[in-house]
Amino acid sequence: MSGLFITLEGPEGAGKSTNREFLAERLRAQGIEVLLTREPGGTPLAERIRELLLTPSDEPMAADTELLLVFAARAQHLTQVIRPALARGCVVLCDRFTDATYAYQGGGRGLSQARIAVLENFVQGDLRPDLTLVFDLPVEVGLARAAARGRLDRFEQEGRGFFEAVRQTYLRRASEEPRRYRILNAAQSLSQVQQDLDAMLGHIVELCRG
Ligand SMILES: Nc1ncnc2c1ncn2[C@@H]1O[C@H](COP(=O)(O)OP(=O)(O)OP(=O)(O)O)[C@@H](O)[C@H]1O
Ligand SMILES: [Mg+2]
Repeated sequence: MSGLFITLEGPEGAGKSTNREFLAERLRAQGIEVLLTREPGGTPLAERIRELLLTPSDEPMAADTELLLVFAARAQHLTQVIRPALARGCVVLCDRFTDATYAYQGGGRGLSQARIAVLENFVQGDLRPDLTLVFDLPVEVGLARAAARGRLDRFEQEGRGFFEAVRQTYLRRASEEPRRYRILNAAQSLSQVQQDLDAMLGHIVELCRG
């Protein structure tokens, strides 16, 4: 038995966390077993690495350190949570995954795709998401939503150019592999975004049922 691996991607404030609950409820209503999780994090140890990544600090974090911490957390999450859940036949719904590494550490920090791909292969083997939903919106809309939420984390303190590169990386990856990705217009009202998700539900349920 093998489950289905769905990831939710997009910049800060795009609505990933808001909509993952919505999508999980919709799938559960169809009798599908769903495991909700997030990155960086998803296990107690990986959540401690998340704190290291998100907490602003006086010592600048080298881009390679950031990249290795992201994949260290991912290795733990895959071993403890994601692979066992997929083996049980669960649908795993994960808020951010390796597309975020390409977008933030690649696009944002300027690390090469080839360098990231080495670690992706090392940590994941051939495991890739079956479906990736990209919540896309203009940079300033996402940043305003994130700012309204309160104190800014280490990434949210970056400038506009960083987030523009993040957005463009997501869009480029989606266009290079259109079968795996679905792009949602996350600048719309929440109810409109959820209508769009509902319109995709038939496709998602079909994938879940194999
Ligand atoms: N379509 C929408 N219209 C207006 N506000 C929204 C919409 N979607 C989400 N929000 C609000 O924007 C804020 C950010 O949403 P959310 O936390 O879901 O984003 P996120 O993608 O998980 O961000 P992060 O990457 O920072 O975790 C929340 O306060 C949420 O209520
Ligand atoms: Mg979130």
